[in-house]
Amino acid sequence: MTTDFTKPNPSSLSSVICIYTVFIISISALVDARTLGLNSISELDDSLVYLWPLPSEFTSGNKTLAVDPDLSLSVGGEGGGSAIVSEAFERYRAIIFKQSSWFSKLKLRGNSAYDISKLKIIVHSDDEEIQLGTDESYSLVVAKSDDRSIIGDATIEANSVFGALRGLETFSQLCAYDYVTKTVQVYKAPWYIRDRPRFAYRGLLLDTSRHFLPIDVIKQIIESMSYAKLNVLHWHIIDEESFPLEIPSYPNLWSGAYTKWERYTIEDAQEIVNFAKMRGINVMAEVDVPGHAESWGAGYPDLWPSSSCREPLDVAKNFTFDVISGILSDMRKIFPFELFHLGGDEVHTDCWTSTPHVQQWLQDHNMTAKDAYQYFVLRAQEIAISKNWTPVNWEETFNAFASKLNQQTVVHNWLGGGVCPKAVAKGFRCIFSNQGFWYLDHLDVPWERVYTAEPLEGINDVSGQQLVIGGEVCMWAETADASNVQQTIWPRAAAAAERLWSKREDLSAGNITITVLPRFQYFRCLLTRRGVPAAPATNKYARSPPSGPGSCYAQ
Ligand SMILES: *[C@@H]1O[C@H](CO)[C@@H](O)[C@H](O)[C@H]1NC(C)=O
Ligand SMILES: *[C@@H]1O[C@H](CO)[C@@H](O)[C@H](O)[C@H]1NC(C)=O
Ligand SMILES: *[C@@H]1O[C@H](CO)[C@@H](O)[C@H](O)[C@H]1NC(C)=O
Ligand SMILES: *[C@@H]1O[C@H](CO)[C@@H](O)[C@H](O)[C@H]1NC(C)=O
Repeated sequence: MTTDFTKPNPSSLSSVICIYTVFIISISALVDARTLGLNSISELDDSLVYLWPLPSEFTSGNKTLAVDPDLSLSVGGEGGGSAIVSEAFERYRAIIFKQSSWFSKLKLRGNSAYDISKLKIIVHSDDEEIQLGTDESYSLVVAKSDDRSIIGDATIEANSVFGALRGLETFSQLCAYDYVTKTVQVYKAPWYIRDRPRFAYRGLLLDTSRHFLPIDVIKQIIESMSYAKLNVLHWHIIDEESFPLEIPSYPNLWSGAYTKWERYTIEDAQEIVNFAKMRGINVMAEVDVPGHAESWGAGYPDLWPSSSCREPLDVAKNFTFDVISGILSDMRKIFPFELFHLGGDEVHTDCWTSTPHVQQWLQDHNMTAKDAYQYFVLRAQEIAISKNWTPVNWEETFNAFASKLNQQTVVHNWLGGGVCPKAVAKGFRCIFSNQGFWYLDHLDVPWERVYTAEPLEGINDVSGQQLVIGGEVCMWAETADASNVQQTIWPRAAAAAERLWSKREDLSAGNITITVLPRFQYFRCLLTRRGVPAAPATNKYARSPPSGPGSCYAQ
């Protein structure tokens, strides 16, 4: 623990919160285009704060500080020495100092010309386990040494290494390259920021069954999630179309992959989980049973009710549950996150009632097809719970037999509004993904609609609100593959990311076309500068290219 860090007093902080000056971004391309009269580009609105998502509390000043291109890291606290921190520092150094400052005027005058030459990161805990509700809070001060006596340079203080990662992201967003001095600058300093997320669960679903995504693409997406402070990758690995993951207990399962090249080994999956953890992101795996599992039968045809009627999985055979148990046992070794998604959506039971041996089983067990659906979901839940997982299920399970679900179940909304209010009223936790707002494959949903969707809508009591663990944007991949998945995710996923991180009252203030859109466009351009192929923000259809020439900041 280090004690030479003076925390700004939160109450004085919030009382002086002011959103009046900002980054004056000096982008020569912008200026050139304007003087040439190529296009009408408005200046960035000075009254806005170009941080995304908006921190919960902050104050800023009106000084411009120059950052030393040889910025060094000094660490303190029990967790300061973690590789999670030092590797993140190196990643962010590369982002901040993308442009060479070799010939900068300040460089020629020597080191003393820089206001910030050290970034200090203090992490109180050395616990590197990441789970739901891991402390992601941090404070960040960026000030010149003589500003307020003791505090100089830049300091991030956090309880966990993952809070430090969030602070590093914010620090990187304060840094902007100035094309005139050829230095990295922080505008509006000094900055005093105290920040924490509103929701513990801020997810993105990736579907690697409808189209295979190479692991490098998944990693790029994970990296980009950390820029928007998203913290759960919901990996919808398997579905009816393909089964790409290696399952050692049932080695024929990945015969259900599209080809022998569109597969993930156990090692690939482990690498993705570790890559995500280094960026403060949990990976929640999904095995969507029984309705989305046709591909399983490519390797084990007994899992189909019959060869002509292949879905849902055969409820009448214990083999079906043996396979689920084997898959979950193998996955448990790879996915340490406490939540595990068991699907349970869109179960059309016709194959059960029309296949003689299943029909006989239903009769023997005095079950209707709906009873059998319940039986299947509950038996799968028991398997997951026996492996020390908390089950997550799509909302149909709750809609059909809420009172039978294990009380630990997290209900995952998708069909429409009003589900989380009903789920929390019955004491269940809930994840908000209303398809009318947060399904990224719905290309006609504009950013404003994504931004204004509120997970706590219709829930007014605090105890109910606490059961909404967060929300998730879903990138279903029927029409998205490596060629276009990132521009379908970005920038709209960022609209949800701010909704899930920032304070609710800050999100709803004023006319968002004026208060949010310029910040949103700025973040989109930040993504593109970092190499993320984010689509224009105000497209009529998501992911389509720009309709004509113009500045990144104006489309
Ligand atoms: C900067 O802020 C100080 C203190 O708030 C104020 O006195 C000064 O006029 C400001 N300077 C400029 C250039 O805005
Ligand atoms: C199938 O599993 C159930 C539940 O575990 C058990 O009661 C039943 O005896 C098993 N049936 C067979 C044929 O093994
Ligand atoms: C079958 O189930 C129905 C409804 O759950 C119940 O009323 C009936 O007694 C059951 N019959 C047998 C033989 O268990
Ligand atoms: C919000 O601002 C935009 C841009 O100035 C304007 O076109 C729009 O009418 C405003 N919306 C409302 C509801 O005032």
